[in-house]
Amino acid sequence: MYRKQAESGYDCWLEYRHIENASLRENYLKRCASLAIIGGSPLLRTAGRELAHAISSMLGENPKDEAVTLIDAGAKGTIIVGTYGSSRLLEPLADVYRFDELGEEGYIIHASEDDCIYLSAASDKGVLYAVFHFIRLLQTGQSIESLRICEVPRNGLRMINHWDNMDGSIERGYAGKSIFFKDGRFIPDMSRIRDYARLLASVAINAVTINNVNVHRQESRLITDEFLPDVAKAAAIFRDYGIRLYLSVNFASTIEIGGLNTADPLDPDVTAWWKEAAANIYRYIPDFGGFLVKADSEFRPGPFTYGRNHADGANMLADAVAPFGGAVIWRCFVYNCLQDWRDRKTDRARAAYDHFMPLDGLFRDNVMLQIKNGPMDFQVREPVSPLFGGLTQTNQLLELQITQEYTGQQRHLCYLVPQWKEVFDFDTYARGERSTIAEVASGRLFGRESGGIAAVSNIGDDRNWTGHVLAQANWHGYARLAWDPGLSAEQLASEWIRMTFGLAAEPERVVKDMLLSSYDIYEAYTAPLGVGWMVNPNHHYGPNVDGYEYSKWGTYHYADCHGMGVDRTVRSGTGYAGQYHGPVVERYESLADCPDELLLFFHHVPYAHVLKSGKTVIQHIYDAHFGGADRAAELVAKWDSLASRIDADRFGQVRERLVHQAEHACEWRDMINTYFYRKSGIADEQGRVIY
Ligand code: GCU
Repeated sequence: MYRKQAESGYDCWLEYRHIENASLRENYLKRCASLAIIGGSPLLRTAGRELAHAISSMLGENPKDEAVTLIDAGAKGTIIVGTYGSSRLLEPLADVYRFDELGEEGYIIHASEDDCIYLSAASDKGVLYAVFHFIRLLQTGQSIESLRICEVPRNGLRMINHWDNMDGSIERGYAGKSIFFKDGRFIPDMSRIRDYARLLASVAINAVTINNVNVHRQESRLITDEFLPDVAKAAAIFRDYGIRLYLSVNFASTIEIGGLNTADPLDPDVTAWWKEAAANIYRYIPDFGGFLVKADSEFRPGPFTYGRNHADGANMLADAVAPFGGAVIWRCFVYNCLQDWRDRKTDRARAAYDHFMPLDGLFRDNVMLQIKNGPMDFQVREPVSPLFGGLTQTNQLLELQITQEYTGQQRHLCYLVPQWKEVFDFDTYARGERSTIAEVASGRLFGRESGGIAAVSNIGDDRNWTGHVLAQANWHGYARLAWDPGLSAEQLASEWIRMTFGLAAEPERVVKDMLLSSYDIYEAYTAPLGVGWMVNPNHHYGPNVDGYEYSKWGTYHYADCHGMGVDRTVRSGTGYAGQYHGPVVERYESLADCPDELLLFFHHVPYAHVLKSGKTVIQHIYDAHFGGADRAAELVAKWDSLASRIDADRFGQVRERLVHQAEHACEWRDMINTYFYRKSGIADEQGRVIY
């Protein structure tokens, strides 16, 4: 089962490479000589297998042959694994830890004076997480002599959304085809799903949707007897790793597959149809998570057709799954796709707030609203959605995008953890200072029972899962932040590098520098100062200043010969800035206080406007694009310095992409700079600034 996939990147951060440092290995071996797994539930079996495999692989002289043996529990140097209460061996832990505060997923890791290590929790799932945490300590070379670790997740739901279609394609997928579907059916060999579930569990992801939010005809049938046996098989695999399966559903399923002529959420036939559909799903999958819904968005059906609102739609589905403990996750990505650029008052950025704020408090307790981090669509730079901090009586999920739709599509290196950290740390001021997004999304700020984080997956059936090997760091980083948004980008980068490339100092130094600078670099050579878009239509790759398809004339930047940017102030613009709380409104509303990186998101300014940096807007665009492209080229040189330190396979894979990135960054630079110099009339024919 754990056949090593030599260096292709298949094992990601769970390669469990042999620890070269003999004294460190000896030290670990002293405490990992034997295992005592108490109990035999599927989750504990998963945990025991994983731990035995990790230890033999990392510490064994000859990992393949030397399995770790079970010896008498309680002997010196034993790892004791089990839930509190399952053995008297674990009883002394109650003197040190409060097991009743660990909840369903928290855990403890404790090293005793007689060189035993205790991995324990109140539940089997907590034990599994303790095991993966302990393995991580070994992989990253930490001391395990005096461990006193107690962890509880900051977010209840930590979810991955797949945008996979049943024909095998993946919407916004940049790493091959679906690992779930092919040619309209499930792929019969589900072993890759198992490997995937293992990777997810290692970073404590606990929920997954396996099909696209755009639910087409074939995918609508996933909730029927035709496909439920296969969905149930996939759910069983995920269950062994503590992960609940959810499905995206088509709001008009009653019409698509139900034989009705309406999807009106208040129609009794519609309600009855969904109740029966839900009951049937739970016959196959007793712990089915629930439905994810994209409605009235980008031409998907929804309650608006029937004059109903989103609460009517979500609550109808919520009532269908409620008797079985299911939830409805309802997306807030709702806007008018056909904006005319001459209409400067209608503003896509306003749309989610305008639609959902009036409904605050009207949703059932088992509904969660899933809100993209920004008001637009996963741009490299956006402000945080004002719905966070706006909604106070509704469960919320923060939606991030791991797949790099607008951030280089996994051909460019763009480590997104720094961006996500800014989102989590953003202060909404909804309840005064320190009302951060992290506090809102978890549900804590407003005392909500449910909350958490979801993100669009970046994996596919490429051998290394993510296309770009270094994009694995985004997947890992997302999951770790979902567990604890307090972790820093530096910590997470180091952790991922050590687990992926080993403990040598030089690769860690270089790759860390590359990861941590990459977001900044990508932003520098693409759309400037928060204005967004400027990508080719539909596939969204590569520069095209006027390319965006959902704006009638391809533009959201409103550049003319006088200036550029979108006036979203209350004073003279679309009023979007007014959707935030007091201090935030003031900051964005004021030209003087608005941070440079968001200036063009909130203000229309002349090209000669002077930024806080002291440069004019046009000079900034010029310098940032040249600087960004130069720094992209330096990434290649940095990586090359590791030629002898990274295995040839992964080295080559990454190098190829970095070279492409460096070239593509030049294309971005030249397209953007030329466009704005021409537009602003301050460049000569060769593009030199004459201002
Ligand atoms: C973006 C993306 C679409 C996706 C949509 C969504 O617009 O380009 O492919 O369907 O987001 O989040 O629903």
